[in-house]
Amino acid sequence: MSRGRAAILISGGGSNMVALARSMAAADHPAEACLVLSNRPEAGGLARAAEMGIEAVCVDHRSFADRSGFDAAVTERLRAAGADIVLMAGFMRIVTPDFIAAWEGRMLNIHPSILPLFPGLDTHARALAAGMAVHGCTVHEVTSDLDAGPILGQGVIPVLEGDTPEALAARLLPMEHRLYPEVFRRFVAGDRRRVTLSAV
Ligand code: GRF
Repeated sequence: MSRGRAAILISGGGSNMVALARSMAAADHPAEACLVLSNRPEAGGLARAAEMGIEAVCVDHRSFADRSGFDAAVTERLRAAGADIVLMAGFMRIVTPDFIAAWEGRMLNIHPSILPLFPGLDTHARALAAGMAVHGCTVHEVTSDLDAGPILGQGVIPVLEGDTPEALAARLLPMEHRLYPEVFRRFVAGDRRRVTLSAV
């Protein structure tokens, strides 16, 4: 059977992208990483992808007058790379409903909270402000409702005494790096059982 072709969309350091790409480097993985695309030229993940031998490109959102122009350019890159799955990994752009519709059922995202708690930004600070004893991350399908698509897996960590948003974010990242590859591997193999991981 031919392997799936996954494009990974990033905006920053790309540590989740690296975790996904490392996982896909296994010969028996049902997908391979065919493209890493960033909307920001300064994203550190671009160099990390290139070092791993993955095509790495920037489509700078600032070069486009509107979201649909940007999405069309991203779509063209995805098509050229032969992508059939899109993995958002710290991709900080809202895409158009048309783009989402084109990829529905084939586009995943990782969000740094236990959804449906804390959709949107500043999740770590909001979890602390709410007095949460646990925090976590969610991998979900991307639909037109922001951070509200079907949940495919969640990872949970404790909130510790004296945690700052930065400390909590740093402690959550290793859980993200475990969860996303595990969920994606199952998803691409057609296994829709949800993944739950706990460090509590
Ligand atoms: C992760 O915490 C991800 O959940 C969030 O942005 C961060 C990206 O980190 N949306 P990286 O670029 O994968 O290192």
